[in-house]
Amino acid sequence: MASPFLSAIFIAAIVFFISHSVWFLPSQGAEAAAATNAPPNTRLSSPSHRRCTTLVILGKHYTFCAPSAVAKKKGRTLSERLPREGHAETRRPSPAARVSLSERNHPSIRKRLSREPRRVIRRRAATAAHKHPLRRKHPTGGQPLVRIPATSGRHPSGSPRVRPGAAFPPRPVRNNGETLRNDFYEQTCPQVESIIRNKVSEWVTKDPSIAPSLLRLHFHDAISTGNDASILLKDPIRRSTEMYSGFNGGLRGFDVVDDIKLAVEKSCPGIVSCADILTVIARDVTLEMKGPFWFVPFGRKDSFTSFLSDAVEVPNQESDVNILLKQFDAAGLTFSDLAILTGAHSVGKSHCFSFTGAGAGGANPHMNLTYAQALNQRCKAGPLETVFNDDVTPNILDVQFYTNLKQGRVLFKSDDTIYRDNSMTSSLVDAFLSQPGVWDAQFAVSMVKLANSRVIADPNQGEIRRICSVPNNGLIHH
Ligand code: HEM
Repeated sequence: MASPFLSAIFIAAIVFFISHSVWFLPSQGAEAAAATNAPPNTRLSSPSHRRCTTLVILGKHYTFCAPSAVAKKKGRTLSERLPREGHAETRRPSPAARVSLSERNHPSIRKRLSREPRRVIRRRAATAAHKHPLRRKHPTGGQPLVRIPATSGRHPSGSPRVRPGAAFPPRPVRNNGETLRNDFYEQTCPQVESIIRNKVSEWVTKDPSIAPSLLRLHFHDAISTGNDASILLKDPIRRSTEMYSGFNGGLRGFDVVDDIKLAVEKSCPGIVSCADILTVIARDVTLEMKGPFWFVPFGRKDSFTSFLSDAVEVPNQESDVNILLKQFDAAGLTFSDLAILTGAHSVGKSHCFSFTGAGAGGANPHMNLTYAQALNQRCKAGPLETVFNDDVTPNILDVQFYTNLKQGRVLFKSDDTIYRDNSMTSSLVDAFLSQPGVWDAQFAVSMVKLANSRVIADPNQGEIRRICSVPNNGLIHH
């Protein structure tokens, strides 16, 4: 009698002991946190982190584990639910967490990405993205989260505006014209080239000096960040876009582009990008100045943004040939493109402030004395006075510039340096003068390269602006 009774008490004692000893095992959350150096509030629910004991009682196997209900009941902490730094790009978020690139480029998101801690950014960006007109709504209606790129976060241009390590959404993917096509608008706006051609001719007839200015405008757009019409975006109050930079001093023709865009929009609303329009304008003003013709491939998208700091990519008249070559190289252009395209200084005018003033660092150091005296005389009128870049054939796009260059009758150090300081560019100068027609043909080739430099092709990463000076969402950035 006593032995079954004693065995029952014995078994009950063992069960009581085991269950209580397990219950008093150290909290697995604290233990795991200590093991992984995670913060004390970290709770892990993975079975591999739970402490279990298996006992054989009366021939049966019993497994007892330390309590994990806390972790299960309350779930993981917020920091565990949000992707950790560095994991964001590799972990694929749920469909509801995906946000289109246009949303990432939403100005309010960009601003926050550059300034705020990632967790705050994600919460707020989700709200902003929700409000964005181009928002892709997930069928579940789930609140989207913005994926933060795992890259270093530095602004690709190396802009000092961005704190080191600050998050920044990637710049649009660009290519050097591989996606462009000559027949891009054949179905959607076949008359686009003739509209632009007529308008350009109208404007140049009214004011011939606008032709070189439009050619320069196109160059300044394409050479900094690529041919994306970012030069056209206005921000009159904060002056935070490319066009307000000193590197873009003296640019004109913005109103002409706006007017031509208006005419194109009337016939083909929402079809033709400002970047494509500016490219055709550059080709057509070249024709107006008796320069060569070339076919323009189409399909560029306009940028959502424009940053003042990007204008540092525009070459400066004080630079020597090595710096110019580096800047051209960054745009996918070579030494021959530099030698050829500088020939555009065979038309147009420059302000006295560009080559006079304190130090006159931008002036050609090998300037012909008589020419220099004439310029000094002219510039007595003030820094806003203008002089012809080529005073022999000022309105014709031809090789006269290279003759002037060899005679020291060009304005800038940057012009002079391609003849004095680099044997490859200087031999091209000689070739253009000795072989008629070569420069014209090569100018067309280099202009196509310039126009195809770093274009945006993906409709999610750029847009067809309705007005060239304003992004479609009405906001510049930040
Ligand atoms: C290679 C480096 C270049 C430098 C440093 C440079 C610099 C300049 C400067 C300082 C001016 C005078 C701006 C003013 O005072 O208003 C100017 C004018 C001009 N540039 Fe360049 N430029 C370069 C290349 C080019 C290229 C590649 C093109 C065209 C493809 C171009 C086209 C023009 C034209 C047409 C003007 C006259 C603009 C007008 O009449 O409004 N330049 N350039």
